[in-house]
Amino acid sequence: MVQASAPGKCILFGEHAVVYGQPAVAVAIDQRLAVKLEHCNDWRIDGMKFHPQRHPHVKALMDRLWNNGPPLSIKISGDIPPASGLGSSAALSVAAAAALRAGRGRQIKDDDWAEGWTASRPNGVYDGPWKSEIGDEVEHGINAVDVDEASILAHAVEAAAQGGRASPLDSSTCAHGGCIVLSNVVEKDLNWLYSRSLNNVQWQVHSIQLSPVIDDVWLVIGNTGIHAPTSKQVARVAEILDENPTRMREIETIGIISRRGINALKAGEMEAVGRAMSENHLMLRNLGVSCPELENLIVAAAPSSLGVKLTGAGGGGCMIALTRNPKETSEAIELAGGRTMISRLAAPGLALDEFSEPPLWNPFE
Ligand code: MEV
Repeated sequence: MVQASAPGKCILFGEHAVVYGQPAVAVAIDQRLAVKLEHCNDWRIDGMKFHPQRHPHVKALMDRLWNNGPPLSIKISGDIPPASGLGSSAALSVAAAAALRAGRGRQIKDDDWAEGWTASRPNGVYDGPWKSEIGDEVEHGINAVDVDEASILAHAVEAAAQGGRASPLDSSTCAHGGCIVLSNVVEKDLNWLYSRSLNNVQWQVHSIQLSPVIDDVWLVIGNTGIHAPTSKQVARVAEILDENPTRMREIETIGIISRRGINALKAGEMEAVGRAMSENHLMLRNLGVSCPELENLIVAAAPSSLGVKLTGAGGGGCMIALTRNPKETSEAIELAGGRTMISRLAAPGLALDEFSEPPLWNPFE
C-alpha cells in the first residue's frame, strides 16, 4: 500500500496573466488531498469501476508510470473542494504521480538515476536520498520519489486537460508547498528552482521564504459553491484576447501589479500585499472572469481584510481575503452565503504519507 498527499493552493497574484508569461504568486494552503493505492482484482477508484475518460489526470499519469502494471484500487480523500480554484486537480496529479512512482520504484545505476527525470540536477549531480551505495538496484518508497518529477508530470497532465494552455503555477505550488513565484526572468532575491516552458512561453519558477512575515495574517477562503472548470475560463480569456489583441495591456497590467505584490511580500509589508491583491481583483473583474456570486463575497469580506480577490480561474469557485481578523472575515463571508475555510499562508508540500512493503510493482524484474 502507498499513500501520498499534496496541498491545495491559492493564487495571490497573477492568475490568467501567468499563462501569457506574466509574473504570479501562489501559496500552498492547509487543505490537502491524498491518493492511496492498493492491489485490487480490477481497476477501481473510490470503490467504483475506474472509467479513464472520467479521470483524465489519473489516466495520463498511469500511461506514463504504470503502463502494463497490475490493477489498483485508487482512493482519493481530503478537504480541497473540486473545481473551485484551489488546485484540487494539481494536488491530485502531484499526489498520484508520487504514489505511482513510490509504488513502482525507480531504477538506479552507478549511483545515478537510470529512469525518470528531475530538474534538481542541472549538472547531473545530486546527493539526494536515492543515491545508491550498492550499485545497480531499484529504489521504492520515499527514495524513489522526487518533488520536481511530480511537479513536471502534474504540469504536463494539467496542460493536456487545459487544451495546451497551462502555467506551472498550480503544479509547482502543490508539489513544493510554501510560496511559489513565477516570473519571466530569474529573480535576484528569490530561491530559483527551475525553468519550464510550454507553447513558446517560458517561466522561471522560484520559492520565497515567508515565515518571518506571516505570523499574524491568515487567508480566509470563501467558496461560492459554483463549479467553474479552469479549461473553460482559460479558453474564454484566450478568445477575448484573440478578438481584441489590445486587451493584452490588461494582462500586462496584472503583471505589473504582481511585481508590486512580490516586492511587498519580500519586504514583509502585508498591508501593501493586500492592496495589490485588491487591485489585481479589479483587473480580473475587468477582464470578465469574475461573477456576481464572487463579487458578493468580496464586498462582504473587504471591510475586515487587508485585501480581497477571486483566486484561480474565476467564473465561480473561490475568493480569498488576506486578514488579521479571520473570525470576523469568515463570519462576514458566511453571512453573505459563502462557505469558508481558513488557512495559513505557505503550508508544506508533497508528502509520502505511507508506504508498506512489498512494493506494488517492479517493472524492472
Ligand atoms: C488556475 O488555477 C490558474 C490559471 O492562471 C491557469 C494556469 O495558470 O494554468 C487560470
